Amino acid sequence: RNRRPIVAIDGPAGAGKSTVTRLAATALNLFYLDTGAMYRALTWLALKTDTPISDECAIAELISSSYLEYNLDPASKMLKINGEDVTEAIRSLEVTSRVSEMAAIPAVRQFLVEEQRRCGTKGGIIAEGRDIGTNVFPDAELKIFLTASVQERSRRRLLELKDTDRANISLAQLEQDIALRDEKDSTREVAPLRKAADAVEIQTDNLTVAEVIDRIVGLYKERIGPKS
Ligand code: CDP
Ligand code: CDP
Repeated sequence: RNRRPIVAIDGPAGAGKSTVTRLAATALNLFYLDTGAMYRALTWLALKTDTPISDECAIAELISSSYLEYNLDPASKMLKINGEDVTEAIRSLEVTSRVSEMAAIPAVRQFLVEEQRRCGTKGGIIAEGRDIGTNVFPDAELKIFLTASVQERSRRRLLELKDTDRANISLAQLEQDIALRDEKDSTREVAPLRKAADAVEIQTDNLTVAEVIDRIVGLYKERIGPKS
């Protein structure tokens, strides 16, 4: 192998992928790639330019004239599309509710997977998403599938929304939104969300963030050794 190791983290919305992956990247001295943010950025651009997400040709054209800029350093969160900083804007309710539709378009996936693989050419990276272990980096040295019940994931989202302008959303509504996105992500034809055969599943309902990171760091050291 002529690259450094790759770690793949997949799982449904709210399982803890972003939180855990960023901190594990710092602990293991790896680059960090948030692939969901890329799907969100293209969704944001389609909404901003009034490009109908149902029109695959229009979306393909939109993509061909767009470029992403981002930082792989886990300490700095930054994502730009066509020069515009969308780090915060891509977390909006509107983007969240349309992103799974965008992510089901083959041309969108092809464009982003190519970009993601470029980031992994030299390895030394931990990437999170839905299809990292199954499709983007099938030869990753360590694959983790993070899960939690819909109830627990919704409870976590609600906690995050506390003190924001969306704090009045009900737990029932969040459960419905999350279940719908799980369903769309798991049943689409291209690279659906699923656990890779060789992934280690971590059920996090009763684990703290620190406990999940400890498991991942432990597995990494076991498989790859203290030096990477
Ligand atoms: O943070 P959260 O789990 O809510 O979502 P995310 O990781 O930001 O991903 C947003 C959406 O992008 C997902 O619901 C998927 O539809 C899509 N996605 C994907 O299809 N493949 C990936 N590798 C990452 C995200
Ligand atoms: O990226 P993904 O959608 O999978 O999850 P996230 O955006 O990292 O959100 C997970 C939320 O649950 C964060 O607020 C975490 O602090 C919290 N949490 C967790 O990630 N893992 C646990 N074991 C417990 C709580």
